[in-house]
Amino acid sequence: MKNYILADEWKIIEEGFRPELHMISESLFSLGNGRMGQRANFEEAYSGQTLPGNYVAGVYYPDKTRVGWWKNGYPEYFAKVLNAANWIGIDIVLGDEQLDLAKAELKSFRRELNMKEGYLKRTFSAVTSGGIEVAVEAIRFCSLVDDETGAIKYTITPLNYSGPVTITPYIDGDVVNKDSNYDEKFWDEVAKETWDGGGYVQLRTRKTGFEVATGQQFTISQGGTELLAAAQNIEKLKYVASKVTLQAVAGQAIIVTKFAANIASLNYPADALAEVLKTTLKAISKKGFEQMLAEQAAAWAKKWQHNDILIEGDISAQQGIRFNIFQLNQTYTGEDDRLNIGPKGFTGEKYGGSTYWDTEAYCVPFYLATADQNVTRNLLLYRYKQLGKAIENAQLLGFKEGAALYPMVTMDGTECHNEWEITFEEIHRNGAIAHAIFDYVRYTGDEQYLSDYGLEVLIAIARFWAQRVNWSGDKQKYVMLGVTGPNEYENNVNNNWYTSTMATWCLQYTIDVASKVKVREPRKYQELVAKIALNEEVEFARFSDIIAKMYYPADEKLGIFLQQDGYLDKEQILVKDLPASERPLNQKWSWDRILRSCYIKQADVLQGLYFFEYNYDIETIRRNYDFYEPRTVHESSLSPCVHAVIAAKLGDEARAYEFYLRTSRLDLDDYNNDTEDGCHITSMAGTWLAVVQGFGGMRVKNNKLSFDPFLPAKWGSFSFHIGFRGNLLNIKVGKQGVQIKNLSGNALTVTIYGKDQIVQANNWLLVEA
Ligand code: BGC
Repeated sequence: MKNYILADEWKIIEEGFRPELHMISESLFSLGNGRMGQRANFEEAYSGQTLPGNYVAGVYYPDKTRVGWWKNGYPEYFAKVLNAANWIGIDIVLGDEQLDLAKAELKSFRRELNMKEGYLKRTFSAVTSGGIEVAVEAIRFCSLVDDETGAIKYTITPLNYSGPVTITPYIDGDVVNKDSNYDEKFWDEVAKETWDGGGYVQLRTRKTGFEVATGQQFTISQGGTELLAAAQNIEKLKYVASKVTLQAVAGQAIIVTKFAANIASLNYPADALAEVLKTTLKAISKKGFEQMLAEQAAAWAKKWQHNDILIEGDISAQQGIRFNIFQLNQTYTGEDDRLNIGPKGFTGEKYGGSTYWDTEAYCVPFYLATADQNVTRNLLLYRYKQLGKAIENAQLLGFKEGAALYPMVTMDGTECHNEWEITFEEIHRNGAIAHAIFDYVRYTGDEQYLSDYGLEVLIAIARFWAQRVNWSGDKQKYVMLGVTGPNEYENNVNNNWYTSTMATWCLQYTIDVASKVKVREPRKYQELVAKIALNEEVEFARFSDIIAKMYYPADEKLGIFLQQDGYLDKEQILVKDLPASERPLNQKWSWDRILRSCYIKQADVLQGLYFFEYNYDIETIRRNYDFYEPRTVHESSLSPCVHAVIAAKLGDEARAYEFYLRTSRLDLDDYNNDTEDGCHITSMAGTWLAVVQGFGGMRVKNNKLSFDPFLPAKWGSFSFHIGFRGNLLNIKVGKQGVQIKNLSGNALTVTIYGKDQIVQANNWLLVEA
């Protein structure tokens, strides 16, 4: 746990440079705009420890899987998002000394991530070993408005030096991935060019053949006048630069304004990239840095209007929640249904930038409430478009007749995880994908989605479950053998309650949706029946039989659902009785010991009770929570939020707050000692869930928003914005009660503490505490 980020409501601030924390800061101060993103590497050279990271959404490399002993059914490769060309580079040489903060003496250093306006600012003054003192201010951003571009304004003022300075803005595509199974480079050069004040490199990924043209256009001014000095253009393999030598004058600012763009073959034909790049660079440099920055602030203001959470009386909580919301919005903007949300977003290489069940289970509710419904719709369409691949994945494993198993880890729909023993059997992911459809329709009321796309996905998933169970002669029930639940500290268990519950829920939901669509749009329904060769009578009868005769492990004496068969045979020592020196288990214990223990990595039975709480009475939820919570080590960042929401429901406000704290500043305080790998983007949605569904008690019930809020003891009040079916609301929970502001033009009925309240258009009401 670190505590070096200064408290501020709208900014993430680091004061003073600590090289040992630099990699953490590189993650925390990351920038992104949904289409591209980057770690907070320095513009000038840095020879200290750093993880260079520039990413272009959707551009990945299939790295051949490395295992000791190959078995049928292993994924061929693990896809990874690639470290792409570095577009921020500006080399500075003062006299004959390169400016490098690992070698200079720093007199001051500060970086600020301005979350309100969406930019990163770094200021420092440094003295080189030759005694030259400079003051630098660097501002940069990834533009939300021109989302293939970014811009930098780098101001350097020599304080005690007049003499030659060379400034070399460059694009460097000769980069490596930290994570590479065979230590290969993943990019080849296709083309490059330099011109007056600019240049580009076009690179192609090996195997996948994605091409990206990354280019720059820059100006340099000194003492307020633009320099027209001829630059010396440099071209090397995968590298272009323009070296400008000028005579610095002590006290006079030199400003480098650098515009950059990443133009990818995902969006244009490869042979048009260079032209598009040049036009884009021209357009943004004409617009100018200040105008781009003003547009950036306006675009962020618009986002914040819809998704800000305001916490009064707790600045560190305020900073934490805004950081989470900010990073989620930097990662995914929902404009492109080929893109998704990697667990680390654009902040690091871990998890390969791939799509996990995290998207459907955690992120979907966040985007549903804080963004236009098309944002979530695009996340659903992403899976719809990959249905064919999901069917192929299932076929490879021996399933047939249109059964689909969505991948646990994917870029393009193909399964590409690299840890068979953990991820492969987490077939519960299929359930999360069906549940996201349910969530989307419940939230938006967009039933049309079901007939257009949803039902087809649901039937394919249901077919998988119907083939995946088998009849146990012994139990006279259907059983589900050899699975891994969300709790990855168990592998290959029989009858994981969560997975079996998910499966029958999917089967029932599929039957329900099918009967609705059949009535609503009979022609479309018949077209689908023909397209997927659905034998309604036989298949739905089997679905119903499984629903009726599914086996769910439970312990009657304890009154709980069992995580899986045999769970109670494990030695039941509670987490509180484990010596602190043995935690986290995943770093201290052998894998074998973890698997035999009763410890739960993340919500499993409780994940099911979270999704389907409306099916269980409060005492059942309480008994399970009381049993499983003390056995949960929360070694996945996705875990505490689910416990927070359940604790809040059970009225355990103090615990709910405690769980919330574990995720809200997880990265800012480097709670798990792993922020240097990147931020936990998907679990940031969990923090939002803890506030809105936990403290706010928000649910959708009977086509209406419903709230059962409480105010955490430490807070003066909290308020959040919620978009619902084209309307915008602001809910403020304070000491006086709950204030509901209807920011839209329609009267709305909202349920507060179980009672319907009508809030007139553009009006508000207070429900007293
Ligand atoms: C969790 C998974 C999750 C993955 C990516 C793992 O540690 O156990 O549930 O999908 O991280 O976030």
